[in-house]
Amino acid sequence: MTMATTRPPGEEFMLKDSEFAAIADLARRNFGLDLQPAKRPLVYSRLSRRLRALKLGSFSQYLSLLDKPGSEVEQMEMLSALTTNVTHFFREDHHFEQFRKEVLPNAIARAKQGGRVRFWSAGCSAGQEPYSIAFSLLDAMPDAADYDIKILATDVDPTILARARQGDYGEDEIQSLKDRFRKQYTCRATGERYAISGAVKELISFAELNLVREWPISGPFQAIFCRNVAIYFGKDTQMQLWSRFVPVLEPGALLFIGHSERITGPASSDLQSAGITSYRRSSTKQVTR
Ligand SMILES: C[S@@+](CC[C@H](N)C(=O)[O-])C[C@H]1O[C@@H](n2cnc3c(N)ncnc32)[C@H](O)[C@@H]1O
Repeated sequence: MTMATTRPPGEEFMLKDSEFAAIADLARRNFGLDLQPAKRPLVYSRLSRRLRALKLGSFSQYLSLLDKPGSEVEQMEMLSALTTNVTHFFREDHHFEQFRKEVLPNAIARAKQGGRVRFWSAGCSAGQEPYSIAFSLLDAMPDAADYDIKILATDVDPTILARARQGDYGEDEIQSLKDRFRKQYTCRATGERYAISGAVKELISFAELNLVREWPISGPFQAIFCRNVAIYFGKDTQMQLWSRFVPVLEPGALLFIGHSERITGPASSDLQSAGITSYRRSSTKQVTR
């Protein structure tokens, strides 16, 4: 039996079943989020903060606000409240190890012969993932900027994307970066902050992109990193996402996903396991959609 309301003792708001269902529906339609009933306490506590910040008295008022034209900014605030932007440099380093060994040698050879090379960090958060790709690339090819090599870095959240584009990190955030990368590719900005150098930024194109909407991109990519994003999506949305990656991956290219994510659905026949949560698009031309 479901509770009709959620109002912990001492809390000021009431979350009705119908209001929780409306929030879950909006989050699913707009961002692919899967808010099962078990997430109700999380939704209550995270969105109560939004109600307080907006000086609203009820979830019903909050839903009316989300329904108004021009509510995109608050919808994004809602997404930020319900998900996390946690990331760090060289997160799950084994992926970068595989990228260095299995992707970069061919990519560099192709670029040197005048070919086009593209990598994609999908759901890049504050930028540590695409910058880690760029550091790995520059380590193997210091003159990468002279060739047709680009890293596309996208996220649905314009605020976090602005941080990524800025490339300015605090001492705590820069800690996961090896000393030699820190020395070579960052400089001390104001106070205890570090700024990513222009030579690194030059390799990256940042763009806003919602993974559950249209993608104005065609690839092909030689590697895609989409890690710790699909974890928020429902099973069907995840399966659709994996299937949409297949045609934009070059045959033989690698897809890296988060440590608790798995490829499911029709894409499983096109994406073969190639390591710890890494998958290789099969070389055959046939693609299951
Ligand atoms: C936990 S971070 C992962 C960052 C990085 N990929 C990593 O693994 O370190 C999740 C990111 O996914 C983004 N995100 C959530 N839903 C999204 C969607 N529908 N389309 C694109 N990005 C989304 C969030 O804004 C957030 O920045």
